[in-house]
Amino acid sequence: MSKKVGIARAHTNIALIKYWGKRDKALFLPMNSSLSLTLDAFYTDTKVIFDASLPADTFYLNMEKQSQKEIEKISQFLDLFREYTGEKRFACVESLNRVPTAAGLASSASAFAALALATATALGLEMSREELSTFARRGSGSSTRSLFGGFVEWDMGTTSADSMAHPIDDASWDIGMIILAVDTGKKKIASRVGMEHTVQTSPFYSMWVETAAQDLQDIKAAIAQKDFERVGQLTEHNGMKMHATTLSANPPFTYWTADTMKAQEAVRQVREDLAVPAYMTMDAGPNVKVLCRASDMDELVTALKEYLPADQVLTSLPGSGAYVLSEADWQESQATFSKGVAHD
Ligand code: ADP
Ligand code: DP6
Repeated sequence: MSKKVGIARAHTNIALIKYWGKRDKALFLPMNSSLSLTLDAFYTDTKVIFDASLPADTFYLNMEKQSQKEIEKISQFLDLFREYTGEKRFACVESLNRVPTAAGLASSASAFAALALATATALGLEMSREELSTFARRGSGSSTRSLFGGFVEWDMGTTSADSMAHPIDDASWDIGMIILAVDTGKKKIASRVGMEHTVQTSPFYSMWVETAAQDLQDIKAAIAQKDFERVGQLTEHNGMKMHATTLSANPPFTYWTADTMKAQEAVRQVREDLAVPAYMTMDAGPNVKVLCRASDMDELVTALKEYLPADQVLTSLPGSGAYVLSEADWQESQATFSKGVAHD
C-alpha cells in the first residue's frame, strides 16, 4: 500500500491555570502544570497522507501552501512519529482552522492535537489519549490538553514520558465562555518567544511557578465541588499573574492593547451592573475570554454588545476531546470552509 491516510478534528482550549514557561525547550516540558477548558466553537480539521511518491513533506493550511519554515515545523513533528514507528514515507498535511490563526485564540493547541491524532490514525498506532498527548506536546505545549474535552489538566510530569494531559471533568454543569475578539490579526510575539523571555528575565517568574502550583490545586478542588465562582476567581487571578510576568520582564512587554483594556473594563462594568459572575482571562494575544455560566451567557452577551462591536462578541460551550473524521466528514469540512471564505 503506497498511501496511509488519517483525518482528525481537535478543539481549541483556553487555559484557566496557564502554562507559561518551559524547563526543557527541546522536549516541551513545562515549568508548571496547567488546566484548561476545551471549547466547542473553535477547532482544527487535519488530514495526513503518507505517500511513497512524495519527495518531501508538504503542508497546506486553509488551502494555501505554507512557507518552508512552516513545513519544517510540521516535518519535525512528523519525524517524532516516523522515529517511533519506522515509517519512511513523506506526508502531505492539509489543515483547516476554524479559529483565527496565531491570534491568541489557541490555534496551535487545536492544530497539533488534530495533527497528532490524524498521524497516529494514518500509521495505525494504538495508544491511549494520554500517551498521544505526549506527542502532541512536542508540537505545541498547549495542544497536550486539546486531546480531551471539558476541564483538562496537563501534568508537568517528571520526564517526557509522563508530562501528559488527563481529563478532569466534562464541564457539563452550566459552563460557558465568551470570547471578546478585539483583534484577530497575527500576534507580534509568539507565545514561545514571550514565555522564554519571561523565564529568563522576570524577577517575578519564580513566584509565578510557586503560586501556579497552589492555584492548580485550588481550582481542581473547586471543580470537584462544582463551585463556579471559586473556579472563576482562580482563573482571573492566575491569568493576571501570568501577564504581570511579561510586564516585569526585561525589556518589558505586553500582549494587551488599548482594546484589550477596554474589553476588560466592559467585563467589570457588565458583571457589576447585572450582578452576574463572569471572570476574564487573557492569553498570548490581545483577546479577552470570559468564563461564565452557560445560562447567563445570553444576558452577558447582550450587555457586552453595548460596549463592543457585535461581531467581536463570540460564544462557546465546552467542547469534546479530539476525534477521528471520515473522508466524507473531511469533504464536508472543506466545503463549509470554502463557503466561509467566499462569504468573508
Ligand atoms: P495561537 O494563539 O493561535 O495558538 P501561536 O503563535 O501559539 O498562536 O501558534 C500559531 C502557530 O501554530 C502558527 O504560526 C503555525 O505555525 C501553527 N499552526 C496554527 N494552525 C495550524 C494548523 N492548523 N496546522 C499546523 N500548524 C498550525
Ligand atoms: C498563554 O502552547 O502556544 O496560551 O508550547 O511554545 O507552542 P508552545 O506555546 P503555546 O503557549 C500557550 C501559552 C498560553 C497559556 C496556555 O495555553 O496554557
